[in-house]
Amino acid sequence: MAATRAAKSLLLCLMVAFLHHLQFQFPPVAATTSLGKNESRDGGSHGKTLSFTLYQQETINKTAYIVVDGVAGAGVSQTTTPFGTIYVFRDYLTVRADRASPVAGVAEGSSITTTLDGLQSLSLAKITVDHRGHRGSVSVLGGTYNTRPSDYPVVGGTGDFAYALGYVRSSPVDLRGRTVTYKMELHLYWPPYAHYAPVPHKPV
Ligand SMILES: *[C@@H]1O[C@H](CO)[C@@H](O)[C@H](O)[C@H]1NC(C)=O
Ligand SMILES: *[C@@H]1O[C@H](CO)[C@@H](O)[C@H](O)[C@H]1NC(C)=O
Repeated sequence: MAATRAAKSLLLCLMVAFLHHLQFQFPPVAATTSLGKNESRDGGSHGKTLSFTLYQQETINKTAYIVVDGVAGAGVSQTTTPFGTIYVFRDYLTVRADRASPVAGVAEGSSITTTLDGLQSLSLAKITVDHRGHRGSVSVLGGTYNTRPSDYPVVGGTGDFAYALGYVRSSPVDLRGRTVTYKMELHLYWPPYAHYAPVPHKPV
């Protein structure tokens, strides 16, 4: 009985030592870089957060196309598409709402219209960012409501955003004309366990 307890506490010691070893071996993800006015981060052992805002610039028939026509419900308008419509986009992300402001990334993805009123869809996107010292991508998957803000859960990331969770809020800024601007707020969070996760080598 006593021997078993001694063996158990030895095992516990070994596990704690091993965790400490991991902690020293792997640096925290997302190396510290200088933060801009629109960014914030909390450090410490309870995870880490990073927030910043970019603007998605989409032009119909130039950066976004309907590739599969929908089959029922609402028609094609500025804010609606028929049920089953699939469109694909590759939109630049700028640092300000102004289309001519500097580019800091790109959003590539697709949306499938999932309601008969044509206002909602399922969207997936890879958001690649090179902004204020942060480089990498964030992948999102979630529902879009065409005329009001949508929150997309972050399903993961690469580069400086490896192991990130959180959400991306997309809000239409200007829905008139052929070019549509969306405000894109990225709210990223690294849970404490990300600290122990392996950092992938750059693929060749
Ligand atoms: C920060 O965001 C605001 C609006 O959210 C914008 O007007 C401003 O230009 C941004 N500043 C930088 C440095 O990106
Ligand atoms: C985009 O192209 C399609 C197919 O050529 C056309 O039917 C549609 O009117 C165009 N949309 C706009 C907003 O220019």
